[in-house]
Amino acid sequence: MATTRVLIPADDIAARIRGLAAEITRDHAGAGQLHLVCVLKGAFLFLADLVRAIDMPVTLDFMALSSYAKGTTSSGEVRLLKDLDSALEGRHVIVVEDIVDTGLTLHYLQEILAARGPKSVRTACLLSKPSRRKIDVRVEYIGFTIEDHFVVGYGLDYAEQHRNLPHIAILDGED
Ligand code: IMP
Ligand code: MG
Repeated sequence: MATTRVLIPADDIAARIRGLAAEITRDHAGAGQLHLVCVLKGAFLFLADLVRAIDMPVTLDFMALSSYAKGTTSSGEVRLLKDLDSALEGRHVIVVEDIVDTGLTLHYLQEILAARGPKSVRTACLLSKPSRRKIDVRVEYIGFTIEDHFVVGYGLDYAEQHRNLPHIAILDGED
């Protein structure tokens, strides 16, 4: 069995998300309304906590992408598994993503969304692993910058496991 050890405790995540939400609220003071696009499945807890800390009117939508098969390395191939329910035209969009690693997934996503005529698109990622970047991608709101570890918990998985951990953990290896 793989073992995990805490990298970012739940309290630190909660505090950082309150800070990100305050920044997002401040940056969009004139926008009137925000449209949050959650990238399933990894960002579901981040979205849930972020949206409750944003102090302005918000609507939500969900999409699902797949960039990894079952392993811990990027295949470099991104597939759209579930599209949004509603149009983005005229909306101020915040993409809510769990982690930016190579940047391939987010780059692909930002291109698709920008083509749909939103008023603005900004991106919030709970985690960033800059040392792994393969493509330069713009992320306005980053929760934590981490070293090159494969991490799980707080929504993030390895082969669909560990999403329910309340903290971010390093996955030590599997048999
Ligand atoms: P990228 O396209 O390489 O930036 O990968 C982004 C996606 O890969 C994220 O949305 C995650 O779903 C997944 N991913 C990347 N690194 C990790 C990790 O350390 N743990 C869990 N999932 C990860
Ligand atoms: Mg993801």
